[in-house]
Amino acid sequence: MAAHTSGAVGENWHQFAAVATARHCKRAFLDRPVPREVLERILTVAAHAPSTRNIQPWRVAVVTGAAREALGRRLRAEFDRGVPPHPDYANLPAGLDEATRDRAAAFGAGLLGAMGIARDDAAGRRTHLRANLDFHGAPATLVFHLPADAAPGTFLELGFFLQSTMLGLVACGLGGCPQYSVAGYPDVLRDALGLAGRLIVCGLATGYPDPAASVNAYVPERAALPEYVTWHDQPPTC
Ligand SMILES: Cc1cc2nc3c(=O)[nH]c(=O)nc-3n(C[C@H](O)[C@H](O)[C@H](O)COP(=O)(O)O)c2cc1C
Repeated sequence: MAAHTSGAVGENWHQFAAVATARHCKRAFLDRPVPREVLERILTVAAHAPSTRNIQPWRVAVVTGAAREALGRRLRAEFDRGVPPHPDYANLPAGLDEATRDRAAAFGAGLLGAMGIARDDAAGRRTHLRANLDFHGAPATLVFHLPADAAPGTFLELGFFLQSTMLGLVACGLGGCPQYSVAGYPDVLRDALGLAGRLIVCGLATGYPDPAASVNAYVPERAALPEYVTWHDQPPTC
């Protein structure tokens, strides 16, 4: 593999950029199973993710077929009974600044719009929330979990593995959607998947994306580079 040290953009870059920018969430799937050997290949490569002292803390339960159906039924039963989600960890800071709140609101409006759900359509919004617990109709869900005493850095490492997994899905013609919503009922996941004592991080709805579904074309806007990068090539002047 040729290294590009001159700053010139080569074929590797184009391949990387194509996969990384195609990785947006897919929330509608074809009725087509995901072959186990494809997932084995992706997860083997994803495990090349870095981790502190190579501890490789990530673990993942691959749930398909009758197990997927049964798990989804149990999760939706909790939702239908009105059990409030009670995830093992917070995924957002307690206070959000205004720009972050605006970005989240824009995403919510954009996603509902892509699904044809009006802002004031409470029933439609509830149907969408419930669809999360059917893994957006994906034939597989991957449940990512960690030791119960996971440190913040351990989550970071699982994140690298999760992102590599999602890029691998794209490279194999698959797609996915990470799901904190699924982690809202961690006791159900622990019980169904034999994960006693484990911390449930998220699901990853996984399948062949439906190319005809408008929701799959929705790509939330990204901030411009100067909003998230600063450059430093001189010591600070006092
Ligand atoms: C850890 C994590 C949990 C998420 N949970 C959900 C979820 O429960 N349901 C959902 O539809 N999307 C979920 N998302 C997807 C985000 O909404 C999405 O990544 C974000 O809006 C950016 O869109 P993109 O991934 O399509 O670029 C989650 C993403 C992450 C990283």
